Amino acid sequence: MENNTFNVAVLGAGNIGSEVITRLLELDKGIVGLNVKKVLVKDKSKKRAISADILVDNFEDILNDESIDLVIEVLGGIDPGKEYIGALLKKGKAVITANKDIIADAGVDLIQTAKENNSCLYFEAAVAAGIPVLKPLIESLRGEELSKVLGIINGTSNYMLTSMEEGSSYDDALSTAQELGYAEPDPTNDVEGLDAKYKAVILSLLCFGVSPSSDELFTDGISGITKEDFEWAARLGKTIKLVAQIDNKDGFNARVHPVLIDMKHPLAAIRGALNAVVVEGENINQLVFSGPGAGAEPTASAIIGDVLSACHQLSSNQTNWYPLREFKGEMKSFEDVESSMFIRLSVNDEPGVLAKISGTFGENNVSIESVIQEGRGDKAELVLVTHEAPEKDIKNSIDQISALDSVTTVTSTLRVYV
Ligand code: HSE
Repeated sequence: MENNTFNVAVLGAGNIGSEVITRLLELDKGIVGLNVKKVLVKDKSKKRAISADILVDNFEDILNDESIDLVIEVLGGIDPGKEYIGALLKKGKAVITANKDIIADAGVDLIQTAKENNSCLYFEAAVAAGIPVLKPLIESLRGEELSKVLGIINGTSNYMLTSMEEGSSYDDALSTAQELGYAEPDPTNDVEGLDAKYKAVILSLLCFGVSPSSDELFTDGISGITKEDFEWAARLGKTIKLVAQIDNKDGFNARVHPVLIDMKHPLAAIRGALNAVVVEGENINQLVFSGPGAGAEPTASAIIGDVLSACHQLSSNQTNWYPLREFKGEMKSFEDVESSMFIRLSVNDEPGVLAKISGTFGENNVSIESVIQEGRGDKAELVLVTHEAPEKDIKNSIDQISALDSVTTVTSTLRVYV
């Protein structure tokens, strides 16, 4: 710190980096004195609205600049950002990152590095962007025993699902999401649940002290959802959301997949590109955090909040981390998680078909809660909802049912949030 002013460097000047720099320059000096001293870019000759005097293209220029107190990493991807963050923390610089991939991959180690070097690490923007939910989890709720976290933590897929609920096809919803800049030209990470998976790993760490591995965190996206699924959902008083569910009741399990959810549930009201995180615990009952979860502006807001916290911490020379939660309980594999399943089938409309299907569920110890059948000529559409049963038993039932001669197609399977 020089003359009551913190020197800041920014790694990356893309959409988010540029927005952050603008906000830093506009920040009321009465709150904190900040000087944006260096910005790391790949190509200094590219035209930008940032003064050329502060552009650098060599990370070492920032790492070895003793006057820089605080570094904001907005490069995207794991490499080289992960290595940069580690090196900066070891130099005692405060680091703020929006990078969920890095924190999901190496959060525990980086937090440890920050502690060991009396530096600080903040990553509020990595989960649910504009919603300040991590700070309450790290600080305000650190004394609480949590039992469950539910989240709509991908804005792009929620935007698309909302459009489909309003009648769009999947392809139209995706094109509009791309036109509006929510979805990337390659939308895989958002629509296949991978972005939500990284965020679920971070929430698992902060809420339950465990980082599930990629194999342990079952992930399914929204690319198989159709308009017809929404029509059925509406008939059942439900909608469809891509939800990260993390619970530690009878064993710990984290998963990300679409669910049919009751219209009265708080998550059903989260529309468009908004995100929401629901946190449950014995003393707090249920807390709901909601707001904009994607986009440069909300992401920059979370980063600015972290900058203020980091400046406060640098002034008081303390770490921002209480001990991470200690994992209590046991890992539960996804195949042992109990789910209620909505299953839509096209079957031959002939005697005995329903008996064979219900018999197959019975043999696998899966109980059926409701059945609707609608004639379609010599075919019938059959919609079943099961009671909660272990995933492995439901999967075996569906595999056996789809092999029956009288079953033409298993059109869709969706878990029901109960
Ligand atoms: N692509 C993400 C989303 C935002 O749509 O929520 C960044 O994590």
